[in-house]
Amino acid sequence: MSDLLITGCSELVTVRGAAPRRGRSLGELGIIRDGAVLIRGDRIAAVGSRRRIETLRPARRAERLELGGRTLLPGFIDAHTHLIFPSSRAAEFEQRISGATYEQIARSGGGIRSSVRGLRQASPRALHDRAIVNLREFAAHGTTTLEAKSGYGLDWKSELKSLTILAELHQEQPLDIVATFLGAHVVPPEFIRRRRAYVDLLVRHWIPAVATAGLAEFCDAFCDRGAFTVDEARRILTAGRACGLVPRIHAEQLARTGAARLAIELHAASADHLEKIDGQDIRALALSNVVCTLLPGCCFHLGLPQYAPARALIGEGAIVALATDFNPGTSPTVSMPMILSLASTQMRMTPAEAIAAATINPAYSLRLHDRLGSIEVGKYADLAAFDVADHREIPYYFGVNLCSLTLKRGSIIHRKGL
Ligand code: NIG
Ligand code: FE
Repeated sequence: MSDLLITGCSELVTVRGAAPRRGRSLGELGIIRDGAVLIRGDRIAAVGSRRRIETLRPARRAERLELGGRTLLPGFIDAHTHLIFPSSRAAEFEQRISGATYEQIARSGGGIRSSVRGLRQASPRALHDRAIVNLREFAAHGTTTLEAKSGYGLDWKSELKSLTILAELHQEQPLDIVATFLGAHVVPPEFIRRRRAYVDLLVRHWIPAVATAGLAEFCDAFCDRGAFTVDEARRILTAGRACGLVPRIHAEQLARTGAARLAIELHAASADHLEKIDGQDIRALALSNVVCTLLPGCCFHLGLPQYAPARALIGEGAIVALATDFNPGTSPTVSMPMILSLASTQMRMTPAEAIAAATINPAYSLRLHDRLGSIEVGKYADLAAFDVADHREIPYYFGVNLCSLTLKRGSIIHRKGL
């Protein structure tokens, strides 16, 4: 493979420097105007102004890709998705529009449990093919790495089916997929009156089996009203940690339960959602290394007014990241640019903060910041170009996909109008 020289970056948004980003440093993007990137194989070999990079000897022989004044970013890292699910839940969407709440629908057997019924029946081929279509769309919107959770199976066969599909997808298509075991999504219907037995099963059998088989790197629990209690989540995530699965947690989305504090206690990689945290939680999170992964697509799709307090988290010095939470119940979007728009308009994150929260900080939460999340020499050439001259226009425009080029490890995996 010959070297590739990318020129014509109106703004080359490097996001270079130390990871993770807290406080003011979240908004420091290390932008190079009229920038260029030299790629050798799957890695970034040189980064700088076009004038300097063009004079490098290997750059003179490289194949050239001229972006014509576009903005180049590190590929987005979407550190919270539920990629494997059987179908949309558009009927529930309509019920909610007519006044039913997400929790009412869940209590009457819909919600996550309706996706569980569908996934148990779905063939691996159908689930796989649906995920492939969605992964192409992730790539087309500038995402190059994603975390993906099991959690719509909730019996051993179906959880294994989901995790196996994730492992196959990681191998056979270009995006990196980091797998998370979410056996603790909700208590499955057959255990409703024996929830302790379900937690025992997770802790004693499924978590060790998933870890031994190398089918996940992280273990997650939905610790919230209507799902798992703090004590149950503590047992589950502690068992995961003992087997080498690093904890992540769905925390404080529907009610304030103490899940964010549990994340800190367990040194979780990430606490996700956080719509209902209070001032003390914010200060405690800021003093920890837990990444606060905010998911504004949920409030948008559910029509809820209370977004997570991003400004306070950033102000206190917490590590803030953004993710789609791609799932059929609360956030059916693959679009990180749309999430950036919501972060800016609904949570008052600046475009620069939103970009760092979608690249280097989620890379840190997945423990991949040494090789992903910024445009720096030695890192993988995972890049996304947008059809705008100024990075602020990425969240500014919404409802339109302006991603014109996506590179994964130096190979073009999406190209539009370029
Ligand atoms: O992150 N909160 C739990 N899990 C998902 C919703 C899953 C669903 O409704 O299917 C979330 O919002
Ligand atoms: Fe989720």
